[in-house]
Amino acid sequence: MNLSQMVKGAFEKAFPGGDFSFVRVVPATDPRFGDYQCNDALKIAGKFGMKPRDAAQKVAENIDASLKVEIAGPGFLNLTVSGDWLASRLAEMDDSANLAVPQNGEGKRDVIDYSSPNAAKQMHIGHIRSTVIGNAIDRIFRALGYEVIADNHLGDWGTQFGILIMGYRQCLSEDERVNLSVANLEKCYVLSAARAKESEDWKNACRTELVKLQRGDEENLALWRKFIDISISEFDRMYAKLGVRFDTYRGESFYNSMMPGVVDRLLEMGLAKESEGALIVDLEDEKLGVAIVRKSDGGYNYTTSDLACVGSRVADYAPERIIYVTDDRQQLHFRQFFSISAKMGYDVKLVHVPFGLMSYQGKAISTREGNLIKLDDLLSESVRRSYEIVKDRGGDEALAQAIGFGAVKYADLSHDPATAIDFNWDKALALEGNSGPYLQYACARVSSLMAKAGEIDLSNVAFAVDTPTEKRLALQLLEFPGAVVRAAEAYKPSILADYLFQTAQLYSSFYQNSPILKSEERLRNARLKLCSLFGRVLSRGLELLGIESPKRI
Ligand code: ARG
Repeated sequence: MNLSQMVKGAFEKAFPGGDFSFVRVVPATDPRFGDYQCNDALKIAGKFGMKPRDAAQKVAENIDASLKVEIAGPGFLNLTVSGDWLASRLAEMDDSANLAVPQNGEGKRDVIDYSSPNAAKQMHIGHIRSTVIGNAIDRIFRALGYEVIADNHLGDWGTQFGILIMGYRQCLSEDERVNLSVANLEKCYVLSAARAKESEDWKNACRTELVKLQRGDEENLALWRKFIDISISEFDRMYAKLGVRFDTYRGESFYNSMMPGVVDRLLEMGLAKESEGALIVDLEDEKLGVAIVRKSDGGYNYTTSDLACVGSRVADYAPERIIYVTDDRQQLHFRQFFSISAKMGYDVKLVHVPFGLMSYQGKAISTREGNLIKLDDLLSESVRRSYEIVKDRGGDEALAQAIGFGAVKYADLSHDPATAIDFNWDKALALEGNSGPYLQYACARVSSLMAKAGEIDLSNVAFAVDTPTEKRLALQLLEFPGAVVRAAEAYKPSILADYLFQTAQLYSSFYQNSPILKSEERLRNARLKLCSLFGRVLSRGLELLGIESPKRI
């Protein structure tokens, strides 16, 4: 039973028949006020016609004697736990395969739509955030027992394909066509788009190819398929490096044939109306402007496509929730189609997780700044720099990869997604401070400590929590499940990252203050057991952020 349940039980005993499901015990903000606190007696006093302090007193009298309770201020309950109590909680956590992370999501299914790059282009550093944040949310939700459908909503349909088809046919050499790569696609797109700017004829030819493709012309469709397949295999190469995998790759093209149906339904429901030849949904009442669902030339757009996508996901997966991870410039788009989707009656919770812009070494990422760096190059550079760090310690390429990829991910995940971030090599690869390598190193030190101790079997060793640093570390380790839950509730992997960093710091002060291998056997083993649990928590936490924890650094 956890503390919240214990204290809730005391409320129930003190005030029989009341509903106390809201009762929560949280870690104390200041150790002078005990280890944990509960402020909920204040909430109920009025209801039972009592002074808050008296209500708190009544609850306190019913709290299990193993907890020390003090009433403070207007009626706060301050709880102090004993070393034995902590030791038995640690043992429970250690015995649990998932480190006591509650399975809140059991029986629930969510779709997470992330990464979603546009086809026929190479991924660049601007694609890191959606991929890495989305994947961490995906992992955190799975850890909580949710059934997750990770869906890569590729930008694989649209006007660019007319330009690409022309470019492919006219601007590439035979050899480039045979050995087609995303780099070649990108090249022929640039060439063809430039020609279209110069020449009306070229522009018209691109349009003609696009229309042919949209009408299902076999040759163009085959080319399009080829472009998409090549793009996906290139993306997959990046995803393999980043440890990211998707359950489906339903891009925009998948929903293309459903768009007329969406518009018909909007018309039937009286939600859409004509305006200057286009069809719009007026959302002025909600201060969301108007959303165009069919352009005056008859074409559909992003809103229509996302509405078709909601309908299709609801029909195919019946999810409770769909989570979209994109940059914050798309906020209006999401608000608009979420609102329309609700009006259409789709029974699904829609959540947009917007993230801020990323700059690189203090400069905006743009072609003009010349730093629209390819994701592949960034990752290679990170591995190269990591190799420089580990080679003198006998580290190999595999270790350099684990550190290099982890550093790039953590540099992003350690920040609140909503904020703009700057990617900086010195910070990302720092061995001290809030970085991926620092946490990986802390993990590896636990493994080497265990090796030094001779890999003793700790399964029958009891936890013991005596000193203040042991107690602080124990309290912190017990917060792991809470950190995972909070990260999921807020859609912020940064909450878990912060938790891991704090935990590593507390571990480090415990480690400095508590002799381990030199202590007598009972103490040594109890401390090793605490170290080993810390190692498990840290490496599991890193895993939920998509970061490996190498055994040796
Ligand atoms: N392809 C879009 C982009 O590159 C992101 C798509 C996000 N998902 C969605 N269902 N709209 O910005």
